[in-house]
Amino acid sequence: MFYINENFLNLQESYLFSTIAKKVSDYQEKNPNKKVIKLGIGDVTKPIVPAVLKAMHEAVDEIGTEKGFKGYGPEQGYDFLRKIIATNDYKDLNISEDEIFVSDGAKCDCGNIVDIFDTNSKIAITDPVYPVYLDTNVMAGRSGNFNEEKGIYENIVYLPVSSENNFVPELPKEKVDVIYLCFPNNPTGTVLKKEELKKFVDYAKENKAIILFDAAYEAFITEKDIPHSIYEIEGAKEVAIEFRSFSKTAGFTGVRCAFAVVPKTLFGYTKLGEKVSLNKLWNRRTTTKFNGVSYVVQRAAEATYSDEGKKQIKENIKYYLDNAKIIRDGLQSAGFTVYGGVNSPYIWLKVPDGMKSWEFFDKLLSKANVVGTPGSGFGPHGEGYFRLTAFGTKENSIEAIERIKGEMI
Ligand code: MLT
Repeated sequence: MFYINENFLNLQESYLFSTIAKKVSDYQEKNPNKKVIKLGIGDVTKPIVPAVLKAMHEAVDEIGTEKGFKGYGPEQGYDFLRKIIATNDYKDLNISEDEIFVSDGAKCDCGNIVDIFDTNSKIAITDPVYPVYLDTNVMAGRSGNFNEEKGIYENIVYLPVSSENNFVPELPKEKVDVIYLCFPNNPTGTVLKKEELKKFVDYAKENKAIILFDAAYEAFITEKDIPHSIYEIEGAKEVAIEFRSFSKTAGFTGVRCAFAVVPKTLFGYTKLGEKVSLNKLWNRRTTTKFNGVSYVVQRAAEATYSDEGKKQIKENIKYYLDNAKIIRDGLQSAGFTVYGGVNSPYIWLKVPDGMKSWEFFDKLLSKANVVGTPGSGFGPHGEGYFRLTAFGTKENSIEAIERIKGEMI
């Protein structure tokens, strides 16, 4: 008899963004003449910038030559990319290239990292949260059963974030082993100050816990004193893995490139209390299960650090942040209470009183033909909220706001 991994049956029926995509395509099928504006999944719309494109073209030509052809590359990424990441993103933070693991996405890294943790690890997530952190732990059997009434898994520690605590999670009240933090936050678009993040680093040190810090949106930080990397906090190199991505920064959602930073000063423990290097474990896992990101894509990622590349990418980020402002200001002037959108491409709004997040989703789709993401899809404390992304075009961002003003208030 072939048995399945029954943990999968413990998942909610479908991945949040797949559910939304299905609802939208059903709607479009029934209403082919409606122009639907999609501000749901955080997918970028600006094309790859010229400096990056040029590097890609050159790399394509190079692998077409006898001399330049590349077969399997190093699983952890080519040295040229690991080096440029270390010297640019971690300048002054003392991260070396062998602490950087290039991958095909932060989503994959966040999902795969759980391979190296004990099945009984106690997991803490913020609520609402990017669903990948939770679902991958459900798949791995760490979640316990789903409590339908409360909308939570019994073995997961939820750290609520809402307007009531200014979107700053409290430290776990019980001892946990793994804490997922994403800042600038997906989905709320809010940030943590250094002193707030430091509390988590101190907690992790005291409790021999690990922080998985998702910094996929750091390039959108506009305000001073907001940490771009967790390693800006003293002691974080002993307790944190950081994930970054070229997806939102350089428009690589389709090209695929990201990286994880696993410091050599970071250790886990065996049941006998022996220290084990997580850098070594992750390296072992990576070399076994992954054959690396393609050479062409890594050359493209490298070009994001060239002077021209940086300049062009900065313009794109500004474009999305301008959209965020259009959406944020527009919603505020329409009377909505709005969060995020200043250091982040996500705008988190409160749905009108008495409405549920999915009701707002349905109404927004059918009346205004605008797609967003219901807050409750990110966790029970997301109920009553709704997320819009600034990754659309400027024209669509403006039109979406006009339609919301016309149809939703
Ligand atoms: C989102 O919309 O939350 C993100 O685009 C999902 C992702 O990065 O995988």
